[in-house]
Amino acid sequence: MERLVIEGGRSLRGEVLISGAKNAALPILCASLLTAERLRLSNVPHLRDVTTTLQLLARMGTQVVVEEGECVSLRAAEIAEPAAPYDLVKTMRASILVLGPLLARFGRARVSLPGGCAIGLRPVDQHIKGLEAMGATIRIDNGDLVAEVPRLRGARVVMDMVTVTGTENLLMAATLADGTTVLENAAREPEVVDLANCLIAMGAHIRGAGTDTITVDGVDRLHGGEHRIMADRIESGTYLAAVAATGGEVTLRKTCPDSLDAVIDKLREAGAHVSVDGDSVHLTMDRRPSAVSARTLPHPAFPTDMQAQLMALDCIADGTATITETIFENRFMHVQELRRLGADIEVRGNTAIVRGVARLNGANVMATDLRASASLVIAGLCAQGETRIDRIYHLDRGYERIEEKLSRLGARISRTRSPT
Ligand code: EPU
Repeated sequence: MERLVIEGGRSLRGEVLISGAKNAALPILCASLLTAERLRLSNVPHLRDVTTTLQLLARMGTQVVVEEGECVSLRAAEIAEPAAPYDLVKTMRASILVLGPLLARFGRARVSLPGGCAIGLRPVDQHIKGLEAMGATIRIDNGDLVAEVPRLRGARVVMDMVTVTGTENLLMAATLADGTTVLENAAREPEVVDLANCLIAMGAHIRGAGTDTITVDGVDRLHGGEHRIMADRIESGTYLAAVAATGGEVTLRKTCPDSLDAVIDKLREAGAHVSVDGDSVHLTMDRRPSAVSARTLPHPAFPTDMQAQLMALDCIADGTATITETIFENRFMHVQELRRLGADIEVRGNTAIVRGVARLNGANVMATDLRASASLVIAGLCAQGETRIDRIYHLDRGYERIEEKLSRLGARISRTRSPT
């Protein structure tokens, strides 16, 4: 297994080129199942979750061509079996995103039920409820969700909570349904908008993406098309938080500043100077950060995917911050690892009280999920001495070449094999 070794305590300075968004790429890759024609995607990040999705699509019969320059062409002309097997679904919950497209185009789908995962229970009841409202029959057989319908029909679906992949699954399903679907309490995340834009490029009729009511007039078929995946706002926020924590200066290139408002506000509150110029964001930090409190909520509020990274900054901030996680019930696994570096954090229910300390000290820590890993990297960059982070395969699910990008900013970070 691989580990990251960080020699911390240095400020960071330089530029980072932001990759395509994982959480936009995954649903958009699955959208290729909605048409027999070729979908050509650019700015597709090299990430483990993307590779898993490509494997899943290829296993079903999709022709996948990975081209130079982060482009992928997909052609799902002949799908042998509209099914997502357990061995792939178990490694990536987002595999559930094939359910809507398969059912809409083929009238049947078998998708292994995604289990609980490290950050919470994460059920898929809202995906099921929406598809049932659109006429599907869904049963569980041998741990698989088995869905059938002659043709989905438009329906009004009011989701019980804001769910990102739930909204995406229903949005994709509705594009080929008979009649109009209205999704109420829809997720407003920018990745939903990016998916909608791709579907529109494929001939879908969608209004309201980016608001909490999305209306879709179903069409008989979608055609191929081209789409560029949006920049990754969480990768962007992670580098901004890292430099706000270590001090220094960074310019993010090819990012999506509009989707970063809540994160930029928090970093300004911490004392960073942030300016936006087109698709670039510049941040300078010339002092110890001030503690900033946050509460995670659906977009456009502060994202749960940035909670752990902000907590890492608060660990070395001046003052006490409270961080409340309202989206997932078990997303504080980084706390015990941050404590190993000397952080002073107390957890009360879904709130962490972080009392900033003057310095963290390097230690051996273990990555537990994707964003928890990112917070350990940030803390390691701030800590005096050497931090070794094990189980970094979590990081490779969502951060493209993180050690390379951080090295360019002057970080001392390397990837080595950990002794077994
Ligand atoms: N929920 C239900 N029932 C459902 C669906 C969701 O109870 O049918 C609950 C979940 O258990 C959770 C809440 O609703 O408590 C929100 O979950 P959501 O469905 O929005 O999460 P998701 O779609 O599974 C996506 C991202 C996550 C991100 C969340 C929240 C992708 C592939 N994943 O997950 O990204 O944290 O939205 O913004 O888009 C990450 O990138 O590290 C990551 C975990």
